[in-house]
Amino acid sequence: MDHADPTGGGHVWTMVVMPRWWSDWMSRLDRDGAATARRRREGRPFAGEFFRHPIRVGAVAETTTDCVGGFLDEVRLEGARTVVELGAGSGAITAELARRLPDSSRLLAVEVSPVLTDRLRARCPDVDVACASAFDLPDLLRERDLPAVDLVVCSVPWTVMGEERDRFLSTVRATLSDGGAFSTLLVAHRAREGGAAATWVGRHFADVRSGRVQWTNLPPLCGLHADAA
Ligand SMILES: C[S@@+](CC[C@H](N)C(=O)[O-])C[C@H]1O[C@@H](n2cnc3c(N)ncnc32)[C@H](O)[C@@H]1O
Repeated sequence: MDHADPTGGGHVWTMVVMPRWWSDWMSRLDRDGAATARRRREGRPFAGEFFRHPIRVGAVAETTTDCVGGFLDEVRLEGARTVVELGAGSGAITAELARRLPDSSRLLAVEVSPVLTDRLRARCPDVDVACASAFDLPDLLRERDLPAVDLVVCSVPWTVMGEERDRFLSTVRATLSDGGAFSTLLVAHRAREGGAAATWVGRHFADVRSGRVQWTNLPPLCGLHADAA
């Protein structure tokens, strides 16, 4: 998820510490309180990693449960047999993605932080987790003898990639099957149809669409979805 500015415009406010009043308010939105309790427990390694590597992590807390649910509702999961998640963090998206995919699908989650990878492995013991950079994806697929990927779900801090963004997207495109799908989360105001993010995603993918704004995250996020033509 792009919790930082995907266009490189430097909106530092997107990386500020989540205030207590916000998490209290979010708690009240929880249907049974369990998601909040889990977030508090799991937020610790995430926040710790943010303060150690703010640029790379790009968010002080993992994506909220409601935001993940709303985002995944828009992702094309039908027929996706080989699925990759990049920037999986502590597993907020991974856990729900694994729950929604059929048993016959193969999910590979890639996370560069060893601390978050440990958390991810503990949380999603049945998922194939690689502690590696997204740029290593072709090697990771080769090592596992995996075919072209049907779906890449992605949540990385686009801002800090700068010039690397195009290399990142072309790496993803090269691993996707023709007709495969790409979905990423990013700061809502940057995900507008025809906006900057749509333009740079559109250099590599076809039919770029933005999803609904997910207001239950701070900052609010939005999915951007595209096809490998
Ligand atoms: C904004 S966090 C999102 C984490 C998680 N997906 C979530 O939604 O809560 C971005 C994640 O991308 C990871 N990341 C950043 N650059 C990466 C790269 N080149 N390869 C793999 N992971 C990366 C960070 O360590 C961080 O866990």
